[in-house]
Amino acid sequence: MSSISLRQIKKSFAALTILQSVDMEIEKGEFIVILGPSGCGKSTLLNVIAGLDDCDAGKIVIDGKDVSGLEPSQRGLAMVFQSYALFPAMTVRRNLSFGMEIAGTPKQTIAEKVAWVAKLLQIEALLDRKPSQLSGGQRQRVAIGRALVRSSSICLFDEPLSNLDAKLRAETRVELKQLHETLQSTMIYVTHDQIEAMTMADRVAVMHKGKVEQFAHPQLVYEKPASLFVAGFVGSPAMNFLEGRLDGNGRFVSGDTSIDVSAYKFEKPRQEGEVVLGIRCEDVSVTSTGAPNSIAARLAFTELLGADALGWFDCLDKRFSVRLSIEGARSANKDVGLSFNIGKASIFSKSSGLRL
Ligand SMILES: Nc1ncnc2c1ncn2[C@@H]1O[C@H](COP(=O)(O)OP(=O)(O)OP(=O)(O)O)[C@@H](O)[C@H]1O
Ligand SMILES: [Mg+2]
Repeated sequence: MSSISLRQIKKSFAALTILQSVDMEIEKGEFIVILGPSGCGKSTLLNVIAGLDDCDAGKIVIDGKDVSGLEPSQRGLAMVFQSYALFPAMTVRRNLSFGMEIAGTPKQTIAEKVAWVAKLLQIEALLDRKPSQLSGGQRQRVAIGRALVRSSSICLFDEPLSNLDAKLRAETRVELKQLHETLQSTMIYVTHDQIEAMTMADRVAVMHKGKVEQFAHPQLVYEKPASLFVAGFVGSPAMNFLEGRLDGNGRFVSGDTSIDVSAYKFEKPRQEGEVVLGIRCEDVSVTSTGAPNSIAARLAFTELLGADALGWFDCLDKRFSVRLSIEGARSANKDVGLSFNIGKASIFSKSSGLRL
């Protein structure tokens, strides 16, 4: 187990700024997920931590020791690359054992570890093949296996499940999480899949354009997103947004409509001005038209999801998602009022995009 401290990490490729001062304090044994859209700098950050890329400024401190100038091999990390990076001339077995051979691990231990990881990742039948004779998902599992047998105190994973089919992906997700509990190593796991982030992370770092916009427990990220970007990126369906302004008397005003938001707990002193009100589909309820503190809406269509349903309503030029029971979806009226559980809403400044 190791702690990792990233201090003001900056990185540019030519004129392009990729990492804009990333700060993160990762505790021993934490499972950290770095979540963000394609191109936001996730792999670059992981490569900088591993020492495969130099940063332009900032420090990487592992267990209190500045490792910024050290070679990758001196940092004591295992990494699973987005591109697998297997040795093409070696069999799967040798790919798994090679790192341990170099480290002088006894033959018996190597054999046991290879057998253990091959069973875990269901690649036992592939041990004598070369990487070119494997599918993308199989190569990915070998790459994960190669990192796991190293028993490093820090494991870095770059989208390790992206090429697995849905079932294997869900199974491997659970295996990795259980493995983390067993190994207790510090793990940094990069993904753009928010389900992986929600289910696996002790804390999630949501990245956008080279910046960490929020670094918190996944439930907190879901319930209290720190910015408009985080609110829109995390959660499916995406959070509903309404633009308007706060009138200073505890009301949110949008066009001719106004709703009481006095139940909202502002993080900063009470605000006025242009804002975006965000509300998740489960925090909206359907009432009759003209009900107090509701917004008029018209049902566009419903989607049955099995256990429950989503109603899609047109409301103030926006399409709103509302979680409904199956019965509620069947009997929904066309013209309704939507009322919001304001205690669960998020209000963001329109200019800064930050939570108020
Ligand atoms: N060697 C390089 N030279 C120039 N630009 C680069 C280089 N490597 C990455 N980039 C750019 O840096 C940005 C961040 O890349 P990075 O690979 O870190 O993104 P990512 O978040 O991992 O995306 P993905 O989810 O697609 O893997 C991208 O715009 C990419 O084009
Ligand atoms: Mg990447």
